[in-house]
Amino acid sequence: MGTRRRRVSVKECRSKLVKWDDLYMELITNPTQESIKMAAKGLNEGQLVAFPTETVYGLGADATNSKAVSRIYSVKGRPVDHPLIVHISSMQQIYKWAVDIPEYAEKLANEFWPGPMTLILKRSELAKDFITGGQNNVGLRVPAQSIALTLLKEFEKLGGSGIAAPSANRFGAVSPTSVDAVQEELGNYLDPKDFVLDGGPSLVGIESTIIDCTSKNPRILRPGAVVKVQIQDLLKVDLESTGADTWINFSGNFKSHYSPKANIILGNFSGSNFGFIALSNLSTPNNAFRLAAPRTTEEFAQILYSALRKADSMGLSDVSVIFPEEEGLGQAIKDRLVKASKRQSVEGNEHN
Ligand code: TXA
Ligand code: MG
Repeated sequence: MGTRRRRVSVKECRSKLVKWDDLYMELITNPTQESIKMAAKGLNEGQLVAFPTETVYGLGADATNSKAVSRIYSVKGRPVDHPLIVHISSMQQIYKWAVDIPEYAEKLANEFWPGPMTLILKRSELAKDFITGGQNNVGLRVPAQSIALTLLKEFEKLGGSGIAAPSANRFGAVSPTSVDAVQEELGNYLDPKDFVLDGGPSLVGIESTIIDCTSKNPRILRPGAVVKVQIQDLLKVDLESTGADTWINFSGNFKSHYSPKANIILGNFSGSNFGFIALSNLSTPNNAFRLAAPRTTEEFAQILYSALRKADSMGLSDVSVIFPEEEGLGQAIKDRLVKASKRQSVEGNEHN
């Protein structure tokens, strides 16, 4: 950390391996097998690697290295009892990290991995308290992003078992969906020996669906791009409603989360000079600045976080958002927006 750091535009650094400067982390643009190998080596030596996934960018560390994992918490400013998702390269790796895996969880993994889904399973001895926040369960995910998968495989070749990675933002803030957003969030907190891998904009744009697989029936704890009806169709069960409010150490479950600096107003707003996000078929109100006009729900999810960042960079104090249908992915969008909108009303909640 420090005032001596120079801000370097990511655009200045395109298309080669660049050292931003000696006080910064290493930014790898257009990662190749060779440069990803270097990042895997960094992980193996206890460094952090921010990397793209199809959902949002993650801040990775060797999931068996307590010192490296503790740096994730300090870089993010996140409370230490919040568990981390362990990213693995394939379905086979779950047997390393989890025990008593129910059949339905295997079905989910076979169907939706690699993909935007995290399974919460009973942990094996490999998943230590510093990963699980002291809970008996571990969160596992195989991301569907080629750079992430290459990193995971290269790390495995060096003896690694998995990469612990929360979203690469300061605690409580909006998740990054581009390398510029990672830099904005964590640039001042990473070390010169850490790495950032640029994979372009995230395809899904919001965090993975989290499914609790520790009981007889699955339970969605955080909605995402793998949606309820897909899970129900596959497993032929009625899903229990979200029980996340009983899940204490579940950071995405704070009343307020995923917050930009601007106030989020759900629905129409009567003020002036405010930001506006809605599907393209809705016209922009008078006195509003259009931040995004996605054509579909998928596109809405994809651009939502960058639109919220744009609002902050423009210094807008209010953003009115008309979210799409609440079905499917729309439910996940609503979940994030409701949490983002509660920032001002939650007393004593810290934001970074
Ligand atoms: O899409 C994603 O899931 C992204 C990318 C990077 O994979 N990761 C992500 O991680 O969103 P994070 O830490 O920002 O959010 C994961 C949520 C947290 O709220 C955490 O508390 C919860 O998952 N979680 C992780 N492991 C858990 C466990 N064992 N039990 C309960 N909740 C868990
Ligand atoms: Mg997060």
